[in-house]
Amino acid sequence: MLNLSHVRSVLSDCYDLAPSTEVAEATSDIYARMERVVTPPDWAIYAPYVKAINALKKERNAVILGHNYMTPEIFHGVSDYVGDSLQIAMKAQEVDAEVIVQAGVHFMAETTKILCPEKTVLMPDMEAGCSLAESITADGIDEMRAKYPGAPVVTYVNTTAEVKAASDICCTSSNALQIVNAMESDTVIMTPDQFLAQNVANQSHKNVVYWPGSCIVHEQYTAKDLQDFREWNPGTRLIAHPECPPDVVAEADFSGSTSGIIKYVTDEKPQKAMLITECSMASNIADELPEVDFVGPCNMCPYMKKISLEKILWVLHTGENEVLVDPDVGTKARASVQAMIDMSRKLGL
Ligand code: 13P
Ligand code: SF4
Repeated sequence: MLNLSHVRSVLSDCYDLAPSTEVAEATSDIYARMERVVTPPDWAIYAPYVKAINALKKERNAVILGHNYMTPEIFHGVSDYVGDSLQIAMKAQEVDAEVIVQAGVHFMAETTKILCPEKTVLMPDMEAGCSLAESITADGIDEMRAKYPGAPVVTYVNTTAEVKAASDICCTSSNALQIVNAMESDTVIMTPDQFLAQNVANQSHKNVVYWPGSCIVHEQYTAKDLQDFREWNPGTRLIAHPECPPDVVAEADFSGSTSGIIKYVTDEKPQKAMLITECSMASNIADELPEVDFVGPCNMCPYMKKISLEKILWVLHTGENEVLVDPDVGTKARASVQAMIDMSRKLGL
């Protein structure tokens, strides 16, 4: 665990990190992407970190891959590439850098290391986990195979390298339905998200059997929440992530991966939209879509929120928190992730 007072004292000796209106003004082009959601005093606090991180990235030949759930100062301020789980995994393979800092959770950094074993992958906080990844081990995959002999195992990328290694193919929320439909067998095992699996089953002709894991952010929403919200705020477009329970997805106007949600709101530009997903999603697109009023409650992912500018600067400065994957496990896990990427490309996803 990081000792934050030590981190602060070392960093403040090496970089000028005091809040600064001058640095804030000098970085106003970056701030313009988040003016609607970050106040000027807050930007004066973030700007010195953003400046230091962006300079250090060049020195270290590093890039930052940011997931759509990062806070705006990370998403817009320091990330070189942003996207959903599939997009950032595919980007990891393309980037020409020695070091990749994963602004996301641990399974994403592991996926990057699996795909790019020759690169140094750094995690700003090793404790940024995921309730789905924690819900299953490789033994769980064996258990499912014993229960449904011969059925292929389609595993969500929100899992450890060992679980990916024990699976046949991975999926993300943006390609799960197409990958399940492409399996030859009539019965398909999906792990570990029961709700993603049920949402896929509702649109597929396959017999989908699943592991009972769930995401602590999306499982909290109920269909009643959506019905009440619609009644109190007529005309609001309700947009849900497929990690939500199926009755929530049924109540929504659209369901898609985080990038699917961004595309839908960008294309449709509804006057009012409620994003039934993690809170930073709406914040990150608010400035690009001034005509959309983002309303309603959202849920915070405590794991994603462990990532901060300070911790990103720390790992770039020290090279600490390198993510390593056992080479044998990595080779098997890469086959599952690569099978997903190849199929996604083939299907034009
Ligand atoms: P996507 O960005 O692939 O939709 O995944 C959402 C998520 O919960 C990642 O942790
Ligand atoms: Fe895991 Fe859910 Fe957080 Fe994504 S939002 S990292 S699925 S707990």
